[in-house]
Amino acid sequence: MRYAPESMPVMTLTSGPVDAYPAVLAGLSRTLLYDYDPAFQAMYQRVIEKAQLAMRMTERPVILHGEPVLGLEAAAASMINPEDTVLNLVSGVYGKGFGYWAKRYSTKLIEIEVPYNEAIDPGAVAAMLARHPEISIVSVCHHDTPSGTINPINAIGQIVSDHGGCLIVDAVSSFGGMKTHLIATIPRRAGQRFAADARIALIELPFDAKAWTMAMISPEVTARDPGLIWLRGQILDAVDRCQ
Ligand SMILES: Cc1ncc(COP(=O)(O)O)c(C=O)c1O
Repeated sequence: MRYAPESMPVMTLTSGPVDAYPAVLAGLSRTLLYDYDPAFQAMYQRVIEKAQLAMRMTERPVILHGEPVLGLEAAAASMINPEDTVLNLVSGVYGKGFGYWAKRYSTKLIEIEVPYNEAIDPGAVAAMLARHPEISIVSVCHHDTPSGTINPINAIGQIVSDHGGCLIVDAVSSFGGMKTHLIATIPRRAGQRFAADARIALIELPFDAKAWTMAMISPEVTARDPGLIWLRGQILDAVDRCQ
């Protein structure tokens, strides 16, 4: 973004290369709650529980109050010791940057670097680990934001786990934004009726949820469309059959 020399910069209140959502900006303008305030503690608890669900963790996650770099530096500082050999996988500027942090904690740094419009090949990681059995930590950026490329961290994670190492993943711009398992809400009776045939596992919700109201909605202009009238009839029949 360019500003006229005499104009004030637009306040983004974020240090990354993106603008903050209006809801975030509105949140930032509210009164700061003291951390012993029961209202703050209840809100913090709710956020931790949601984060735990989203990350499918058995433990409660810790939320660091700061920008993403704080978490990345914390991971480097708390996981890397001088005796560790770190394999840093570089496919963009953020992956490269992690290597500089890693070097503060161990001088034994090896890198696989590919052009910044390519992704890391898991086969190359496996070959490097076979050549250097002393590698104890592997670091990788899942989505290197400026490049827009995605590294195959599931395959890399399996290789690192088989090797007995630890994997540090920078998922700053991919967490919550990547393809994930489909979650759908359907009436309990419909689920129970079709689960076995459709090979769907039914799992109780891990939290209390209010009953939802269901509605069929169609735009007024198509309300009299014979095709849609037929489709609505089919849906209503299916619902009737599940009752
Ligand atoms: C992949 C990735 N890692 C790390 C960071 C660092 O984030 P920040 O400078 O906001 O702390 C960014 C910022 O966009 C990022 O995209």
